[in-house]
Amino acid sequence: MIRAIYPGSFDPVTFGHLDIIKRSASFVDELVVGVLVNNSKNPMFLLEERVEMLKEVTADIENVRMVSFEGLLVDFARQEQANIIIRGLRAITDFEYELQMAQTNRILEPAIDTMFLTTGLEFSYISSSIVKEVAQLNGDISHFVPYYVLEKIKEKQLNR
Ligand code: COA
Repeated sequence: MIRAIYPGSFDPVTFGHLDIIKRSASFVDELVVGVLVNNSKNPMFLLEERVEMLKEVTADIENVRMVSFEGLLVDFARQEQANIIIRGLRAITDFEYELQMAQTNRILEPAIDTMFLTTGLEFSYISSSIVKEVAQLNGDISHFVPYYVLEKIKEKQLNR
């Protein structure tokens, strides 16, 4: 049984994340999307909202499960009995940070390896912050996020 973790903040999930989720779910038995409790980032969406959006937009993928976590990623991976961490690489600028994390995680837990997927070219410029910024300035974000997420962002803006 090959179980992998795809960790991140997902504030909110974008087409770029979805691309990585779909592709990695196709070659593992189970993909656990680990949603980080990351208070330092001052998220737009509550943890439960981020998890709920992920569930909705991955509803057609059978072997994906969402789990929130805090603390060390390798502890979470151990707890989930996963020995692969999946990360997406969008551009060379991601590489240094990702390499540092992968090396650190491997020192902390040699039994867990990090696998990188290059994000689809059409999504290589997307980040959750850019999506939020464009939305705040009333730009069209339909190219970046699924319709369900777009509606949730609009709701957030109306309630602010
Ligand atoms: N498509 C689109 N956007 C992507 C993307 C992709 N394929 N991959 C990353 N991004 C974006 C995210 O949207 C996010 O954008 P934002 O900064 O504007 O919100 C940004 O790139 C960062 O990516 P993300 O995966 O969300 O990283 P993160 O910094 O939120 O989380 C963890 C990274 C969870 C892997 C890391 O913080 C972690 O492991 N934390 C646990 C603590 C720990 O173990 N620390 C030691 C690790 S060495």
